[in-house]
Amino acid sequence: MTNLQEEQINEIQTFNKEDWSSAYKNVDKELTKEPLLLQKGEHIKDLNGTLLRNGPGILERGGQWVHHPFDGDGMITAIKFEDGQPFLTNKFVKTKGYLEEQKSNKLIYRGVFGTQKNGGILNNALDLKLKNIANTHVVKLGDEVLALWEAAGPHALDPDSLDTIGLTTLNGVLKPEEAFSAHPKIDLNSNSSSELLVTFGVQAGPKSTIRLMEFNNAGENRGELIIDRQDSFNGFAFLHDFAITTNWAIFLQNAIDFNPLPFVMGQRGAAQCLKSNPKKKAKFFIIPRETGLFRGQPPLIINAPDGFVFHHVNAYEKDSKIILDSIFYDDFPSVGPDENFRDIDFENYPEGKLKRSTIDLKKKNADLETISEQCCEFAMVNPKFLGLKASFSWMACTYQKVGNAPLQAIKKINLSTKEEIAWSAAPSGFVGEPIMVPSVNSSIEDEGFLFILLWNGSRRGSDLVILDAKDLKELAIYELPISIPHGLHGSWMN
Ligand SMILES: [Fe+2]
Repeated sequence: MTNLQEEQINEIQTFNKEDWSSAYKNVDKELTKEPLLLQKGEHIKDLNGTLLRNGPGILERGGQWVHHPFDGDGMITAIKFEDGQPFLTNKFVKTKGYLEEQKSNKLIYRGVFGTQKNGGILNNALDLKLKNIANTHVVKLGDEVLALWEAAGPHALDPDSLDTIGLTTLNGVLKPEEAFSAHPKIDLNSNSSSELLVTFGVQAGPKSTIRLMEFNNAGENRGELIIDRQDSFNGFAFLHDFAITTNWAIFLQNAIDFNPLPFVMGQRGAAQCLKSNPKKKAKFFIIPRETGLFRGQPPLIINAPDGFVFHHVNAYEKDSKIILDSIFYDDFPSVGPDENFRDIDFENYPEGKLKRSTIDLKKKNADLETISEQCCEFAMVNPKFLGLKASFSWMACTYQKVGNAPLQAIKKINLSTKEEIAWSAAPSGFVGEPIMVPSVNSSIEDEGFLFILLWNGSRRGSDLVILDAKDLKELAIYELPISIPHGLHGSWMN
């Protein structure tokens, strides 16, 4: 594992696909407060807090594999630091579907990303039941830790043991199993005096409704819903993520069509029925926040650049413009019905690229600029700068500068100058989302730590890597006592 300067990344270092795909296996145990052994570096003195992370932990039952890892049952990993010493706890989210399938040792639900039950089309047609797999993100709201999956309700977990308390309506805020995004934003910069958790749910259909919710997330009233706003838009909305500024919530509706017929007929998963429509125009839905200056006003709808976006990085306001950084793909990346996700052809798979939209709210148009051509995903800014102009972003990226490949490096980019530095785990290491945790009491934007769960292909196991956010120097590496498949999102809990 090495620190790299820009010019060094240009040389190609090939990866072994088996090293990468070996991460895809079931997690075989649940542990509680297992101390982690330092492999390299030193403990981070005085570090206290918990790294939470979600991702699929079950990918195969009774010999049948899910069609896409996004269909795997959620497993939460919590690494709690006590004065620098980390302890690991991991638990599967005990959803209704998990418990049923655990008992029967077979897949008894279809998956959104194409997992089918045994028995072919006849056994899958007209079965439209969703399994809430709680596998996408994990955050603290009020006093509860929530395992999130965007198409249905959150599962509450005990913050210490990670035991599943159960599906929650958040004190009656949600209807049972109401859609609740897996991409909440913790806002430290709103006009409200409190820390807020801002999130949304989508009811999709020929006309789609976005429910924008803002919760107090600190103080005596933490967990309380303070803002609840609904806006409807024409067309089917597929909205995985959004961005916020002090005054706006920004959504990008990709130019896609949803034809549910192959799903209903048992041929495809619901997400496999999404298809880019080049004749359509993507749209920004820009909703005034009720904690902001434009409260009570209708949303703005502005044509958006072409491309497909899952994730936004950050947004901020500049005069009458919104500057929005996002990871753009040329097309919706999906795994077709006849493909094996453990053997995908990276070269023929769309690449994610960091791009900047400048949205002019007065002229009602948007420009797009590419910040980096290098394939990347899972980007974030210092959480204290969310919604404000941030100078830096950290992200997972490919080792090489050009083309698609697994994510093997971590990059810090200066969003103004485009200067970048990288740390690489190539050729046999594979990285997930870097979680940037600012140093306590520091106002310097890039002072802090990056936490990365790494798949170590050499020993076919997982490591926790901690880097210095400023220069990406390795500070500590811990070998984990469980093997965790390539996963999704996480957060830091103080
Ligand atoms: Fe996501």
